[in-house]
Amino acid sequence: MALIEDIISRAKSNRQRIVLPESLEERTIKAADKALADGIADIILIGSREEIMARARELGLGNIGKATIIDPATSEKTEEYRNLLYELRKNKGMTPEEAAKLVLNPLYFGCLIIKNGDADGQISGALSTTGETLRPALQIIKCSPGISCVSGAMLLITKTPGEDGVLVVGDVAVTPVPDTEQLAQIAVCTARTARSVAGIQEPRVAMLSFSTKGSAKHEVVDKVVAATARAKGLEPGLKIDGELQADAALVPSVGAKKAPGSEIAGKANVLVFPNLEV
Ligand code: ACO
Repeated sequence: MALIEDIISRAKSNRQRIVLPESLEERTIKAADKALADGIADIILIGSREEIMARARELGLGNIGKATIIDPATSEKTEEYRNLLYELRKNKGMTPEEAAKLVLNPLYFGCLIIKNGDADGQISGALSTTGETLRPALQIIKCSPGISCVSGAMLLITKTPGEDGVLVVGDVAVTPVPDTEQLAQIAVCTARTARSVAGIQEPRVAMLSFSTKGSAKHEVVDKVVAATARAKGLEPGLKIDGELQADAALVPSVGAKKAPGSEIAGKANVLVFPNLEV
């Protein structure tokens, strides 16, 4: 669990303002209480103060009073955020009435707080679906400069492979069938997550496939090879290789045999999965 402790320690020394829109949900409010007790983050809970404090009392949580609590129904900021939402989305056909309704949705309200510079991040998904969680962020916060494709990444804490047992895995759950450019961006962003979240100084990215260095021929393999080249173009200096099968990416003896000369094979600490559709 050294990675989790490391992440908590970095969070404490670089306190961020985190919005929790699903404030009454049990795991969420308990996590908020712990984050506040341990000084891990400044917490913004969305909802009625009365209801949130009653829930905290019911669960025996003593630190929720330290959170900032904002109720979209009564906050003096709601009008400002409603106007912001309307300005951001009017070219997409949003009417003032729709903005006035959507701003009351805690998931939208939280993203508007961030967009306005009043918070740094949001965590949700304990009650809402992935789509409900992602949509306001995609519409309001958008992507980092130079990136147009949002992707997810998982941190796997394992026994041996990866960086001291940590593997960062980029997936295509948000964009189920990425094209070459999108797959390249997913690789670059997953490497960035490896640096910023997992603390891996030198990501070594394996672009996975069912083929290693031409062992199989298929359009899907061609896409992985092209995305690998494109990722190098997007981030020169990034250590990345593909296409590689997982065993060639992770097991030194297999990597040396199937992809001799590769600086990634057998040493990967970041894996990027393609989809098996073109
Ligand atoms: N990267 C960046 N922007 C995106 C992406 C993406 N991958 N996908 C959609 N967008 C943007 C669009 O450009 C659009 O922006 P705009 O309105 O400013 O033009 C906005 O998001 C909404 O796009 P829509 O095409 O209208 O998409 P939709 O409303 O259907 O929602 C969403 C997009 C939420 C990503 C949807 O496709 C979805 O639910 N995908 C599946 C996600 C999912 O459930 N995955 C399983 C995850 S389970 C797990 O990971 C554990």
